[in-house]
Amino acid sequence: MQPQLSRRAMLSGGLSALALAQLPTSLIALADSSTQEELVPFLDEQPTNPKRPMLKWQDLRDWITPLDQFFAVGHYHAPKMDADSWRLKVEGLVDKPIELSLDQIKSRPRKELIATLECSGNGAGANFMGAIGNARWAGTSLAALLKDCGVRAEAVEAAFWGADSGKEKIRDAEYDQNFARSLSMADAMRDDILLAWEMNGQPLGADHGFPLRLIVPGWYGIAWVKWLTRIELRDRRLMNRFMARDYVTIRGEKHGDQTEWKETSVGPLNVKSLLGRVTRQASGSLHITGAAWAQHPIKSVELKIDDGQWMPVQLDEQDHAPHAWTFWSYDWKNPTPGEHTLVCCATDVAGHVQPLADDDAIKLKKTYWEANQQYPRRIKI
Ligand code: MTE
Repeated sequence: MQPQLSRRAMLSGGLSALALAQLPTSLIALADSSTQEELVPFLDEQPTNPKRPMLKWQDLRDWITPLDQFFAVGHYHAPKMDADSWRLKVEGLVDKPIELSLDQIKSRPRKELIATLECSGNGAGANFMGAIGNARWAGTSLAALLKDCGVRAEAVEAAFWGADSGKEKIRDAEYDQNFARSLSMADAMRDDILLAWEMNGQPLGADHGFPLRLIVPGWYGIAWVKWLTRIELRDRRLMNRFMARDYVTIRGEKHGDQTEWKETSVGPLNVKSLLGRVTRQASGSLHITGAAWAQHPIKSVELKIDDGQWMPVQLDEQDHAPHAWTFWSYDWKNPTPGEHTLVCCATDVAGHVQPLADDDAIKLKKTYWEANQQYPRRIKI
């Protein structure tokens, strides 16, 4: 039997000599016999707002992100929610509309999954890189609830309404609108979409959508509607701010010498990886770790040091879930003193490769969202 290397041990390099001797040679490169490690800071680290919880990549150790490091994004004020009076309505194109209390929702079959939540604005600027986290979500199946309500044949999509609202200016007038996003019926009936009340074993926090939110594994955070109060099955696409005006990516596609400009609603995650921590081990080698994620599972991650060749890194095979980030690591033996640039690039099983910042996929992206370009980091040793 092969010994299991804990992910934390992989990342921190803390292993006994006995454990080292038992390791397969492919993993020995990831470990170090000393528990001493020294963080090598990134030279290009940008200050972030200390009052706003965010993932600090240089502290990345936990595959499941602790709640105090989990970012939160809300477009209106976080609404005050009262668990006793709160209800979820399922209505519109269903045979049996229903209204459920929190206890009734919680008495439905419980499902848990681990999925990474990334804001589609993450990576749009050097001081907004930590709007991502990985959590264990617990709730109940959306598809099963919709089936119980009897989905009518005319339904083309399910719209999910949050309790939060604000004024939206549309053309020349202002309207009160609630936050809402929709999913096609095919997406809504996926078996891994949850109506969740728990995050990392705790009831959802007030900022994260208490008492109930939608979990859409493999999609950007905008689809994960918080403070959910109503699910409406519709025969027309919802074209509100969050589907069709604001969270829209404008990207040019080259066709011969023509550029075709296309607008798409922000949806599934693009393939992406980032460097997390670089630590100097007692042996003098550098332990480089990071994470990679996409709509589809990650196939490989490569690392480039300065102008060298792309080199494969070791993917962590222990902590895994279909829509969770994959941790990776690389040991740089005998690093040369001086300044260095490190960059990583992920590929998913569907063959999508993380683009360079000057690839057309990024250069011709004219809006802020979906910034998945490779992100070089500088260190000095
Ligand atoms: N749901 C509601 N009701 N209102 C919102 O403003 N923001 C979305 C999504 N769900 C939002 C929402 C966005 S843009 C993101 S990135 C995620 O929630 C963030 O989830 P979190 O705050 O739990 O990290």
